[in-house]
Amino acid sequence: MNVPLLDLVGQYRAIKDEVLPALQAVIESQQFIMGPAVAQLEAKVAELSHARHGVGCASGTDALLLPLKALNLKPGDEIITSPFTFFATAGAIHNAGGTPVFVDIEPGTFNIDPAAVEAAVTPRTRAIMPVHLYGQMAEMERLLAIAQRRGLKVIEDAAQAIGARRSIDGVWRMAGELGWVTGYSFFPSKNLGAWGDAGMMVTSDDAAAERLRKLRLHGGAKMYHHEEVGTNSRLDTLQAAVLLAKLPHLADWSSRRREHAAYYGAGLANVGAVRAPVVAPGNEHIFHQYTLRVERRDALQAHLKAKGIGSAIYYPIPLHRQACFASLGYKAGSLPRSEQAAEDVLSLPIFPELTHAQLDYVIDAIREFYR
Ligand SMILES: Cc1ncc(COP(=O)(O)O)c(C=O)c1O
Repeated sequence: MNVPLLDLVGQYRAIKDEVLPALQAVIESQQFIMGPAVAQLEAKVAELSHARHGVGCASGTDALLLPLKALNLKPGDEIITSPFTFFATAGAIHNAGGTPVFVDIEPGTFNIDPAAVEAAVTPRTRAIMPVHLYGQMAEMERLLAIAQRRGLKVIEDAAQAIGARRSIDGVWRMAGELGWVTGYSFFPSKNLGAWGDAGMMVTSDDAAAERLRKLRLHGGAKMYHHEEVGTNSRLDTLQAAVLLAKLPHLADWSSRRREHAAYYGAGLANVGAVRAPVVAPGNEHIFHQYTLRVERRDALQAHLKAKGIGSAIYYPIPLHRQACFASLGYKAGSLPRSEQAAEDVLSLPIFPELTHAQLDYVIDAIREFYR
């Protein structure tokens, strides 16, 4: 049996009769730039996020870069974030003219540790950028309290967490609801994936939304009038049409991922060398990734590969140890929990179309390895 880490073909076959006509309609209209599907998608994603505005852009990376640019960072301005994330989080901070300040994670959820954030705030801090890693929200209520006390913005990196939610004081709060601006990625492998690159920002700050709309269009709301220098970061209309057709399926896909996670959890429960993902109290996880902590990780990965099972290490090198950030002065051991996670995480196949037979095959292969 083969169990790939991700296979998008099954999803494509299931929904192609919905997506292809939507694409055809865009092509027939020949409105490729900022066609009506873009605004329709923006409204729907904002609604899902309990936010007032959605502003489409070219990628998840730009969905972080543009709000950071909107902060008008000056050299030396600091943004506190997690080192245990995809590179784009910190790359965007650098490219917006800021300095990433990395703080350690909670070992259970892999999300940024609010106490470490608080300890890292300086007079140069401008924003906190939590990453809702693998599809579960960071402790937003504690991060927001710090931000409020210190006069900081919170920019959520929800690239992996569209539709995730967290119960705070008995109320469900969505990813994208509580931060100043939130960035989503619609990279094809995401729970809601385009057929190419695409991203979106959501916010409930009217002024921020207006600013972001300008920044994605060369800094001007009106053609050929530029109040500031922005860039070309539009959400492609064809991608918006794909995403609009897929969006009604998102909740079902994410709940199938949760079911798979529970199935893995039960199947691996008594394997001592394996720790299943921790879902923090109050969180509803969307399991963009199902990430174990395991002993002898690299050997397990080779064993799975030999059995035709895909897996991946997200992420093998924490960002504070990347060559491009050497000048920031972090050393081996600076952020030990992130460094430990990089040594022992392994993500398993979790896409919605997996069958129980495939999940059993993965579980059996892991149990066999540790026998
Ligand atoms: C946590 C995180 N941030 C940012 C990004 C960047 O998104 P994109 O690849 O759409 O630019 C991604 C995904 O790729 C991500 O996983």
